[in-house]
Amino acid sequence: MLQALPEGFTAVITGAGGGIGQAVLNRLLKSDRLGHVIAVSRQRLEHEDSRVENLKADVTTEEGRKILKAQLNDAPLHLLFNAIGLLHDEQQAISPEKRLEDLDVETLATLFNVNAITPVLLIQTLVNSLKGRHPAIIASLSARVGSIGDNELGGWYGYRASKAAHNMFLRTAAIELARYNRQAIVLSLHPGTTDTGLSQPFQGRVPEGKLFTPDFVAERLLAVMNDRRAEESGSFWDWAGKPIPF
Ligand SMILES: NC(=O)c1ccc[n+]([C@@H]2O[C@H](COP(=O)([O-])OP(=O)(O)OC[C@H]3O[C@@H](n4cnc5c(N)ncnc54)[C@H](OP(=O)(O)O)[C@@H]3O)[C@@H](O)[C@H]2O)c1
Repeated sequence: MLQALPEGFTAVITGAGGGIGQAVLNRLLKSDRLGHVIAVSRQRLEHEDSRVENLKADVTTEEGRKILKAQLNDAPLHLLFNAIGLLHDEQQAISPEKRLEDLDVETLATLFNVNAITPVLLIQTLVNSLKGRHPAIIASLSARVGSIGDNELGGWYGYRASKAAHNMFLRTAAIELARYNRQAIVLSLHPGTTDTGLSQPFQGRVPEGKLFTPDFVAERLLAVMNDRRAEESGSFWDWAGKPIPF
């Protein structure tokens, strides 16, 4: 797993309380090559493993990102895995738009902040830890519906557009990071439809056998990350290891 990373590598997982974030954390903990992981969540997480540092912070805010930066203190970082994302939130009355009349400026701003701006600002926040000569994988969860070329169905304006912006931010950051660290690999990843709170209201329309467990997805995404090289930085991949057009 993640063979390019050194023995005792350091990782940060954001959205570590979410379905896929938790599963990736649990998979990483199965490897004795992991040295230290900061598991960041808005929730108070309880992980017994001494390699896990549970950090309660909301990194979709400037304050939360400052807490994370102070915790890492510019130490070299080998893996940043961002599993934060928002599709619906009943408390905030956010649900995917079906038609133009559903578009709402506050909802769009929230979706863009969580799905697009936060991932790139996490890279900004941790850039001193990503610079250098060490291998570094920066992977952030996107969604196939963020592919502009693949959009045949329409709908879901805010989620689609924020994930498209996510992918553009990551590709642009990949180009800049290559100047600071020749071993940096920046990836946008599509997990496939996964059985988590995010997909829960939409699972009825998922074909038989196409709703994945978070653990299966974590295993697949780690394998896809393992197969990437620095020349592929800035690209977009699905869980099966197939590239997705932007
Ligand atoms: N599940 C799927 O079928 C599917 C398909 C395609 C793409 N994805 C993408 O995969 C990623 C992970 O999703 P998931 O399925 O694991 O969903 P999830 O269980 O809902 O986890 C998402 C996590 O994102 C963080 N988050 C959500 N809204 C937030 C907000 N307003 N402010 C701050 N943090 C917020 C939370 O992390 P904490 O609880 O740790 O604070 C939350 O647990 C997302 O980017 C999603 O778009 C999922």
